[in-house]
Amino acid sequence: MCGIVGYVGRQEALPILTEGLRRLEYRGYDSAGIALHRAHKLAIFKACGKVREVISTLPKRIRAHTGIGHTRWATHGVPSDVNAHPHCDSEGRIAVVHNGIIENAASLRDQLLAQGVRVVSDTDSELLAHLIARVDADRLDDAVRTVLRSITGTYGIAVLDTAHPEEIVIARNGSPVIVGIGDGETFVASDSAALVRYTQKVVYLEDGEVARLTASGYEVTTLDAAPIARAPDAIEVSDGSYEKAEFDHFMAKEIHEQPECIRRTLRGRLDKRFHSARLDGLNLSANALLGFKRIKVIGCGSAYIAGLLGAKIVERLARIPVDAEAAAEFRYRNPIIEHDTLYLAVSQSGETLDTLVAIDEIQRKGGTVRGIVNVVGSSIARKCAGGIYLHAGPEIAVVSTKTFVATLIAFTLLALYLGRMRDLSPSDGRRLIEALEALPAQVSELLERESDYRRLAARYARYDHAYFIGRNCGYALAMEGALKLKEVSYIHAEAYPASELKHGPIALVTEHTPTVVLIPDDDLAERNLASIEEIKARRGPVLAIIQNPDHAASADDHVTVPAMHELLSPIAMLIPLQFLAYFAAIERNCDVDQPRNLAKSVTVE
Ligand code: G6P
Repeated sequence: MCGIVGYVGRQEALPILTEGLRRLEYRGYDSAGIALHRAHKLAIFKACGKVREVISTLPKRIRAHTGIGHTRWATHGVPSDVNAHPHCDSEGRIAVVHNGIIENAASLRDQLLAQGVRVVSDTDSELLAHLIARVDADRLDDAVRTVLRSITGTYGIAVLDTAHPEEIVIARNGSPVIVGIGDGETFVASDSAALVRYTQKVVYLEDGEVARLTASGYEVTTLDAAPIARAPDAIEVSDGSYEKAEFDHFMAKEIHEQPECIRRTLRGRLDKRFHSARLDGLNLSANALLGFKRIKVIGCGSAYIAGLLGAKIVERLARIPVDAEAAAEFRYRNPIIEHDTLYLAVSQSGETLDTLVAIDEIQRKGGTVRGIVNVVGSSIARKCAGGIYLHAGPEIAVVSTKTFVATLIAFTLLALYLGRMRDLSPSDGRRLIEALEALPAQVSELLERESDYRRLAARYARYDHAYFIGRNCGYALAMEGALKLKEVSYIHAEAYPASELKHGPIALVTEHTPTVVLIPDDDLAERNLASIEEIKARRGPVLAIIQNPDHAASADDHVTVPAMHELLSPIAMLIPLQFLAYFAAIERNCDVDQPRNLAKSVTVE
């Protein structure tokens, strides 16, 4: 979703800003722009389209040492040159980039129009520039604070003022803003991806904070101008995590990183003495954990689906009821929050607003919530008083692959931990630990069969519709397989519990509608094979993902994955589904890493 980058210091700002914008591209966007301080004037370059299109409009060299940039994902107003950020006031004195949504934009717009201000774009963000310009204050940060006190909604902003050419004022409420500290230079970004190349020293702004950045440092205050002391943190990730290396796409790179991700999520967390797991980050005593009668998982998109699968894994081993719900559905139904329920918020980015607001709702009602999060120091990680970090490393492709797998590993560890506190036997605990340790090598073997998946994808990419079916964990996996395929290849794909096919969707099964059937080698396999017969009787093509070679019989095509611990089978079966989506997208010439309309991290409601 929208991204912010900014620089003030001795170096030329332009190359730093354009590089930052490229690093933000993965979040998903539809337009981009830059504002620079140049000879007491603002130079603004912005356009609808890709970052390279903005860069192509730039003069070769612009001497400027302070500037801000933005990638926009349209919310108020269609993607267009005029709606792209930065936005300026009518005099061209103030430039603003903004992530988030101003909720009282309509009344602010009316006020400005009534005062004779010409508003040129359809955005809520432009209003901020006019409002800041109209405050009579000597200091830019004073003007920004005054305006923000009249705003409702979410924002991460960066502001330039020609009257203060060597500073940037930033502020945060619900949309991340990170300050990067350099030597005689200061950076700002909404995502550390745009910073790691230059500095590992960062300061995370909290909601309701404003900061003034100059080449020599930063001053953080509240909206009421009370100073706040904030020491820098270190970011762990290196610059290399944001490069494609030898791969054509980040999605392929991240699929291939999965064996290593599994090892990283497991590292230091297997307790071989007690055949259990170590999850100290949860910050919950054994006594507190034993007191929970239920677990409720919330998340959005793939994080929600990983939660659905995780719920089944934990319920199976820990023998307590667990269910998962889409975070936005949960928050909007005035949920009953129970004190003996442990709430788990799943999020790769740790910034998804629907999930964040759901956490607020739980905490406001006195519930206990913990995070299962990838990005260290992200808003969700900080809001929950503990949790399980995935340690999967940065995920750049918009669609989730390696963090989905890492989330399943985190749930499996939790299942083992809670199970061993309750009635899971030591020998069953040991069996699962051995299976977890064997998993990275088994996934590596599956990754080596890329050419098989490519051949299959070429065959199935010519269809415009597809079904994915499975039972129990297989159904949740079918949801993820269908979501991946539609996200990257734009093939219309739907998931159903296999048993539901005959209750409606089978009406659409013809020789033009293939079905992917997930058949783990479990006691439901026979039922899944019966579903294949129903589809074949309607001449529907079938691609079966199987574990037992005997289950290939009536499918048109199949992929066999190795037999393994039943709780880990979904991870193995996921690999061909990820590749099916990836190669189908390539067959159909789609933008694999940045599918249309999608954003990596959805920071609006
Ligand atoms: C967006 C992304 C999805 C992701 C979802 C949740 O919709 O396109 O790939 O699964 O957000 O993101 P989170 O960062 O909370 O896991």
